[in-house]
Amino acid sequence: MRIESPRYTERFGSIRINDAQKVLELDSGRAKEPLRDEDIAVQKIEEEVIKDYEEKMAIVIPTKDEKLKLFEGVISGVPHECLIIVISNSQIGNVDRFRMEKDTLKQYCHFTRREALIIHQKDPILAQALAEAGYTNLLDKDGLIRNGKAEGMMAAILIAKMVKKGYIGFIDADNYFPGAVWEYSRCYAAGFSMAKSPYVMVRVLWRYKPKIEEGMFFRKWGRVSEITNPFMNALISYKTGFETEIVKTSNAGEHAMSLKLAEILPYSTGYSVEPQELVSIFEGFGGVLPMAHPPAAKHGVEVFQIETRNPHLHEDKGPEHLEAMASSSLSTIYYSPLCEKETKQRILDELVRLNSIKPGEEPPHPSLSEPLKKMEFKKFTSVMKEHIGSYSAREKP
Ligand code: GDD
Ligand code: MG
Repeated sequence: MRIESPRYTERFGSIRINDAQKVLELDSGRAKEPLRDEDIAVQKIEEEVIKDYEEKMAIVIPTKDEKLKLFEGVISGVPHECLIIVISNSQIGNVDRFRMEKDTLKQYCHFTRREALIIHQKDPILAQALAEAGYTNLLDKDGLIRNGKAEGMMAAILIAKMVKKGYIGFIDADNYFPGAVWEYSRCYAAGFSMAKSPYVMVRVLWRYKPKIEEGMFFRKWGRVSEITNPFMNALISYKTGFETEIVKTSNAGEHAMSLKLAEILPYSTGYSVEPQELVSIFEGFGGVLPMAHPPAAKHGVEVFQIETRNPHLHEDKGPEHLEAMASSSLSTIYYSPLCEKETKQRILDELVRLNSIKPGEEPPHPSLSEPLKKMEFKKFTSVMKEHIGSYSAREKP
């Protein structure tokens, strides 16, 4: 794979945020090439290197009642070396959509000779493991894990840690292009291979995000990120004194992290999870507030933003859904101790414009969970290890 080198890196405390890097070539061949001047601007990431990172990576697919055909397409795009972890919150009952997902995955693993795990978010054993590990803030009144993509992501991080993966990448189940899924996974691997620190995050941005309106229209950015990015950048600008546009992926649903980073971040609920990750990194390692985790501060936290070639086409869930996402995203910035008065006011104005709040109101507080590292992980594992076989989609011979 050939990818642009980061043209610019913004430093904020011990964080390094790299400017967007375009994929130049999806497959860069196997020939060893002599170094030339232009190699400074472009990086060739060898196939072997990509495969090495894919082997250490779990690809998590959060799903809730998505079309089975889409789910099937998504799993078909995950490179063979990655471990697929499906965390599902799909319907169980008369129409057992979870059962269908399981059957699809089992059949796929059988014919492709690969391993995958599938677990329901409401699985009582998972909830019990969390309770015994003293990590109850993911649980609802009924004692099971709450609804939400973020809650599913957190459970999946723990499972990936348990099966000793070093990296974790997230890919939504409602993607129409298996080729895009394949490219995201490779971009994650490429980002990890470029990192100098073990605390690393890779966020994907799309060259085009088509909308089917009158004919196909290729939008440049995701709509929510477009709203969130300027405010996210304001958090950095205000502290450094220099205006910046470095963050282009505030709401990147498709993103990946080293497990080392994933387990030290606090997470917010629902769809504010991705912007909150950045806010938490800025708060924890930006040098303005006390450092959240000294070893990560020492190595630095690196963020890569990679622009993919495949367009991103997923299920359209309507404008109200977008508004709700924008408002919960902005509230993560609004309530950050890094957010100064002027940005706060601009966020309130934007929320009024989006009809999320009335003039004079404030958005609801995002609810934040403790970093996963704070739980008693051994206790989590001791409950889960007896059952992990039952989550496997690979039938034993
Ligand atoms: N496990 C689980 N639990 N998965 C869920 C849940 C849940 O409660 N709710 C939704 N999902 C799954 C969906 O089935 C889908 O695969 C993925 O999470 C994303 O949900 P969507 O409802 O499709 O979100 P979106 O397309 O509007 O938003 C995406 O892009 C945003 C950026 O534009 C998501 O990735 C967002 O997280 C992201 O911020
Ligand atoms: Mg979607």
